Amino acid sequence: MRCLTPLSETTPGDPSVRRLDSRLALLTSADPVPGEGQVLIRVRAAGVNRADVAQARGHYAPPSGAPVSLGLECSGTVIATGPGATRWQVGDAVCALVTGGACADLCLAQESHVLPLPLTSLDPAADPRFTPGFSPLSDEDVLETRVPRELAPHVLAATLVEAAATAWLNLVEVGGFSRDPAENQGRSVLVQGGTGSVGTIAIQVARALGCRVLATAGSPERAVACVSLGAHAALDRHDELAPFIATHTDGRGVDLVLDVTGAGSLGPNLNALAQGGTLVVIGLLGGGVGEIDLRRLLMRNLTVRGTTLRSRTSARRAEVCDALETWVWPLVRRGLVRPVLAEVAPLEDAARIHESMRAGGRIGSRVLLP
Ligand SMILES: NC(=O)c1ccc[n+]([C@@H]2O[C@H](COP(=O)([O-])OP(=O)(O)OC[C@H]3O[C@@H](n4cnc5c(N)ncnc54)[C@H](OP(=O)(O)O)[C@@H]3O)[C@@H](O)[C@H]2O)c1
Repeated sequence: MRCLTPLSETTPGDPSVRRLDSRLALLTSADPVPGEGQVLIRVRAAGVNRADVAQARGHYAPPSGAPVSLGLECSGTVIATGPGATRWQVGDAVCALVTGGACADLCLAQESHVLPLPLTSLDPAADPRFTPGFSPLSDEDVLETRVPRELAPHVLAATLVEAAATAWLNLVEVGGFSRDPAENQGRSVLVQGGTGSVGTIAIQVARALGCRVLATAGSPERAVACVSLGAHAALDRHDELAPFIATHTDGRGVDLVLDVTGAGSLGPNLNALAQGGTLVVIGLLGGGVGEIDLRRLLMRNLTVRGTTLRSRTSARRAEVCDALETWVWPLVRRGLVRPVLAEVAPLEDAARIHESMRAGGRIGSRVLLP
C-alpha cells in the first residue's frame, strides 16, 4: 500500500519511496494487519489538515505512539477486523478519526474511533435518513470538483470528521454550550477563522445549537461567505474587532471565542469576551507566544483554554466520536450542517494541495483520493 509521509521520515535512495516534493513522499509498504480492537479501512477519501502541513515541514511532532505518516481522517470500506473488534463488519462504509496514516490506500483505526458515514447516498430515495429536499452536496459541487457521484458520500464524510469533532469538542465539551439549543438562547460565540475547514463547520454547529454566532474572515467577501454559512454577522479580520463585537452583542461581549490565530489575536480576543467568558485556543496561525494582561482575566472572571484533539487519550477520542454520531451526524442529515468542499485531488497531488492550504484563499476543506 502507499501512504503519504514526510520526506524527512524516509531513507534516501529507498526504491519504495516516491518523492513528491522537498517535503512529501509516497511510501510503499506491506499492507498492515489490524491489531486488537482495530479495523483496516480501504480509503476512498482522506481529509487534509493544517497538522499534516505543519508535520511535513517539521513544525509539529506527532504525539507519541502516533504513525509518522500523514492524515487524521478518512472514509472508506472496512476490509478486515482485528481480534476483539466486533462493531464493524467487512464491507461496511465508514469514516474514522485517526492519529496519523489516513492519507493512504489503507488505514488502521481503533473501532471506537470509527463512525458510519453521515449519509450513504446523495439520492434521498436511497437513504431513508435523508431530509427530503435537502442535498448535502449539490450537483454543482459534484461537477465543479469532479467528484464521481458514488464517491460523494465518502468525500463529504472526509471533510467532516476532524472539523466536526474539533468544533463539537470545543463548543460543547470545553466551551460549555448545551446540547439543547433552548438552553443556549442569548449565548454567543466568536469563530475566528470562519472560512477554514474547522471554522465553516463550527459556524454551522454553533448556529444549530441555538447560539448567536459571530465570525471573522480574511476579506469582506469571505466574511459574506461566513454569513451565508449561518453566522449572524462576520468581520474582515483586518478590521477592528472591538466595535464589531460591541455592536453585535449590545456591548456585552461573547461568551466564547473559538480561536485559530493564537498570539495574533490574543488581546482583542480577551477584550471580546463577556464577564465569565472563555477563550479556547485551538490553532496558532498568528503565532504561539503572546502576552496576557492578567488584570483583565481577574476583573472579568475570564478563562483561557488550549486544546488539541489529536493528543487526547483513546478513550476521550472515542467519546468525541460517539458525540459526532449522536449529535452532529443528525444535523448533517437535517441539512443544518453542510460540508464545504474547497478542493479534491488524487493522492499523488498531495504536495499541490498542501501548498494550496498554506496559501489559503479557498473556503472549506481539502480532500485527497487514493
Ligand atoms: N486543536 C485542535 O484539536 C485542532 C483541530 C483541527 C485544526 N486545528 C488547528 O486550527 C487551525 C485552523 O485549522 P483549519 O483546518 O480550519 O485550517 P484552514 O482550513 O487552513 O483555515 C484556516 C483559516 O484561518 C484563517 N486565518 C486567520 N488568521 C490566519 C493567519 N494568520 N494565517 C492563516 N490563516 C488565518 C483563514 O481565514 P481567511 O483566509 O479567511 O483569512 C483560514 O480560513 C489550524 O491551526 C489547525 O492546526 C486544531
